[in-house]
Amino acid sequence: MKDILSELEDRRDGARLGGGQKRIDAQHGRGKLTARERIDLLLDEGSFEEFDMFVTHRCTDFGMEQQKPAGDGVVTGWGTINGRQVYVFSQDFTVLGGSVSATHAAKIVKIMDMAMENGAPVIGINDSGGARIQEGVDSLAGYGDVFERNIRASGVVPQISVIMGPCAGGAVYSPAMTDFIFMVKDSSYMFVTGPDVVKTVTNEQVTAEELGGASTHTKKSSVADGAFENDVEALAEVRRLVDFLPLNNREMPPVRPFFDDPARVENSLDTLVPENPNQPYDMKELILKLADEGDFYEIQEDFAKNIITGFIRLEGRTVGVVANQPMVLAGVLDIDSARKAARFVRFCDCFEIPLLTLVDVPGFLPGTSQEYGGVIKHGAKLLYAYGEATVPKVTVITRKAYGGAYVVMASKHLRADFNYAWPTAEVAVMGAKGATEIIHRGDLGDPEKIAQHTKDYEDRFANPFVAAERGFIDEVIMPHSTRKRVARAFASLRSKKQKLPWKKHDNIPL
Ligand code: HXC
Repeated sequence: MKDILSELEDRRDGARLGGGQKRIDAQHGRGKLTARERIDLLLDEGSFEEFDMFVTHRCTDFGMEQQKPAGDGVVTGWGTINGRQVYVFSQDFTVLGGSVSATHAAKIVKIMDMAMENGAPVIGINDSGGARIQEGVDSLAGYGDVFERNIRASGVVPQISVIMGPCAGGAVYSPAMTDFIFMVKDSSYMFVTGPDVVKTVTNEQVTAEELGGASTHTKKSSVADGAFENDVEALAEVRRLVDFLPLNNREMPPVRPFFDDPARVENSLDTLVPENPNQPYDMKELILKLADEGDFYEIQEDFAKNIITGFIRLEGRTVGVVANQPMVLAGVLDIDSARKAARFVRFCDCFEIPLLTLVDVPGFLPGTSQEYGGVIKHGAKLLYAYGEATVPKVTVITRKAYGGAYVVMASKHLRADFNYAWPTAEVAVMGAKGATEIIHRGDLGDPEKIAQHTKDYEDRFANPFVAAERGFIDEVIMPHSTRKRVARAFASLRSKKQKLPWKKHDNIPL
C-alpha cells in the first residue's frame, strides 16, 4: 500500500513540474509566473481542487508518442475566491508552449460545463502558442468546442479572461467572447495575425507589443478591459472584480458588510458643478463620494474616457455605474463611448446588477468621422441596451442632458425607475447658444438681441423644472443628499420584476 501511495505522490510531483525546471526558470526569467503559481495567487489558499492532472494527448504524429506530459499543458479545476466558488483553467507555457491539443481543449470544456451546471464563474488564464501544430484539425475542433461553451455560458455565468502570454490567431476568439479581458503589460499580446504576416500582407512594420500588447488593447482597440503591471497585480484585481459579481444569472449580486452610513451627507457636492456651464469638473469625484467607503472598480479606464463605467457598492450591494465625464470631450457621446457603455449595461442586466447613471452630456459628437464610422448604429446600441435592461435603473442628471443623448442616458422614457436631477440640471433639446442661433437666425447680426434671446432660452430651459413638471424627472434633489436618495431608491427596488415581451432573442444593432 505504501508503494502505491508513494507512486501517486511521485506521479503528482511529476505532473506539477510541468515542462521541467529549465522551462520553469525560463518562464520566471520573462517575469511570468507558472500556471500553478498563478492559480495559487488567484484562489483562496488551499482551496484548489484539480481535475485531470494525468490526462495526456493521444497524438501519434511527428514523434509525439515520445513526449506525453501529464496534464497536457493546462491546469484545470475549481476553488474559491473569498469563499465563493469559481472554476479555473490555467495554460502551462512550459508544456509544449501551452499549445492546445484535443485533450487540452477537452479539459477546459469539462470545467466550463461544470461551471454552467453548478452556477459559478469561469476564469481562464491564457498563455499559449495556439493550436498544437502536430495535431492539425483535432486541435481546431477542440477550439471550436471551447468557443461553443463560451457562447453557451454567456449571460449564464460570468467569464473572465486573463492574458498572461501569447494569444494569437483564432485562439483570441475564446477570450473575445468572455465578459472581461485583463492583460499584463509587456508580457502578453493578442492578435489575429502576427507582425510577420502583417509585414508580408500590408508592408507595415510593427512589434508584437505595438500590434497587440496590453496598452494597444486597453487604449486603442478596447478589446481588453484592464492592463496591469505584472501577473501578481492582475490576479489580485481579478479577485477584487469577482467580489462584485454574482456567481450566476439566477443569483443576486453578493452583499458585503459595509461601514459607511448610507445617509452620509456630502456638502462638497453642492459646489461640484461650476457656475460656468462650459467649465468641466471631475465626475469621478461624485462616484467616489457616492460609493460605500469610496471604493470604485473601474472597467475600461483607459478607453473612451468621456464615459466612465465600473462597479461600486451601496449598502454593501453591487451597483453598476455609467457616467458621462465632463473632463473629456465635455462628456459627449460618440462611437467609442456608446459601445463601451452599451456592453457594460448589457453585462449588468445579464447578471441582475442595478444601474446608476450619472448624466452630464451635451449631445453626440458631430463630424464626418463619426457619421462615416456609424455613430447612428453605435449610439443606438446604448439606447437599446438601456431600454431592454430590466434591472433597477436610477439616474441623476447633474448638469447638461441635451437632445437625443438625454433620452439615451437612462431617461424616464426608457423605463428608468428613479430619475433625479440636481438643481443645476439643464434638460433641453440643446444648449441656449445653439438654440438661439437656429430659432432667431434673422437676428444673428444683432449681438444685443441674440444675448437677450439666449438669456430667454436659458431662463426657460436651463433648469430641471420643465422636465419635472411633466414627471420626466421624479424629484429635484440636493447634491449633498445624493448618496442617501440613491441608496434609498435602490433599496426600494430590491424586489423589482419587469418582463419584456417573449422573443427568441433581440436584434440589437451590431
Ligand atoms: C506545438 C508549440 C506551439 C504550437 C509553441 N510550441 N507553440 N508546439 N504547437 N502551436 C512549442 C515550441 O515548439 C517550443 O517547444 C515550446 O513550445 C516553446 O516555444 P518557443 O518557440 O521556444 O517559445 P517562444 O520563443 O517564447 O515563442 C513563443 C511563440 C512561438 C511565439 C508562441 O512558439 C510560436 O510562434 N509558436 C507557433 C505559434 C503558431 O503559429 N500557432 C498556431 C497559430 S494558429 P520546445 O520543445 O522547442 O521547447 C492557431 C489557430 C487557432 O492557433 C484556431 C482556433 C480556431
